[in-house]
Amino acid sequence: MAGAVAEDVPIEELKARYRRPATLPFPKGNPYSEAKAELGKLLFFDPRLSGSGMLSCASCHNPALGWTDGLPRGMGHGMRELRRRTPTVMDMAFGAAFMWDGRAVSLEQQALLPITSPDEMNMPVERLEATVRAIDGYRPYFAAAFPEGGIDAETIALALATYERTLVSGPAPFDRWIEGDETAIPEAAKRGFALFNTKARCAKCHAGWRLTDDSFHDIGLPGPDLGRGEHVPASVTIMQRAFKTPTLRNVTRGGPYMHDGSMADLDAVLDHYEDDDLVRRPSLSPEMRPVDLLAEEREALVAFLETLESAPQEVTLPVLPR
Ligand code: HEC
Ligand code: HEC
Repeated sequence: MAGAVAEDVPIEELKARYRRPATLPFPKGNPYSEAKAELGKLLFFDPRLSGSGMLSCASCHNPALGWTDGLPRGMGHGMRELRRRTPTVMDMAFGAAFMWDGRAVSLEQQALLPITSPDEMNMPVERLEATVRAIDGYRPYFAAAFPEGGIDAETIALALATYERTLVSGPAPFDRWIEGDETAIPEAAKRGFALFNTKARCAKCHAGWRLTDDSFHDIGLPGPDLGRGEHVPASVTIMQRAFKTPTLRNVTRGGPYMHDGSMADLDAVLDHYEDDDLVRRPSLSPEMRPVDLLAEEREALVAFLETLESAPQEVTLPVLPR
């Protein structure tokens, strides 16, 4: 199962598992170029990509709110409440599957889902292409980013995905500690890190530098959403009601938490992991065993999570082409 972390792993070996990668990965089919990232940024902030002309990607993935919206559930076309919470788009370059249920296999494929969804940006592909083509100011940007390609859904998706891959969380105090600076984080946080990897069992799923295994688990939340189960046969019991393990970087900036925004703060989250009131059903992850934490152990865990917070990055809003 997910990277069993033994109680007796030497601390240096454990820390090595959380080291940030040195390079930013781009796929062969969509290599980085500055022109593509620049175009992608314009598109990300452009509400003209929506049917109402009022919603851009950034309306929900707002850089000032950690690239999410601070709401329990996303708010879509015509103020419609979506069924799931808006996740951050930070550190997506390193992701394996996208959406809470992993239904998008790449950022390129993901990008067109919110645009065309009637509940979100409500913009059919043909209208999207016609709209962007009709904006003269976009032409030089597309020509620079795609000398061989035109203005269509594919190049729009390639540019959006390239921009998203550049959104990487800044180094946090935790990273400085991993790199050897013992003064970078308080002693309580070091105890919290040890607990995270042992008694509290969090690292069974929240492992690696982004604190996620990129896999899907049913952690016993109530609610009708089947999550990953919507995309695999019902016979794959373990994937029913399973959702993607979210990153814990910057998690202390604030909730609400979980795919359904059902938990207001970290206290509620820890209560859930400590509790027996999680829903027991055949799909429940075998790693979900109630943990009993002392008050100071909870504090230590939160002190550790706080060290994953990095300074907010300045994002200058682009001047949109006309
Ligand atoms: C109306 C709000 C809204 C808008 C507009 C929106 N998103 Fe999202 N985004 C969401 C929600 C909600 C989810 C989770 C959906 C799910 O899991 O079913 C999501 C998921 C994502 C994810 C997956 C994150 C992960 O952890 O897997 C990415 C990437 C993303 N959006 C990028 C974009 C891009 C690019 C745009 C613009 C083209 C966009 N979003 C527009 C609300 C929005
Ligand atoms: C069995 C795997 C597993 C274990 C063990 C686990 N988590 Fe999670 N965690 C998840 C999954 C999956 C979600 C998302 C669930 C959902 O939304 O339905 C999640 C959500 C969270 C969230 C909410 C993040 C957000 O952005 O919404 C926090 C915080 C969190 N976990 C912390 C912890 C801590 C602390 C521990 C240890 C006490 C822990 N987790 C143990 C898999 C796990």
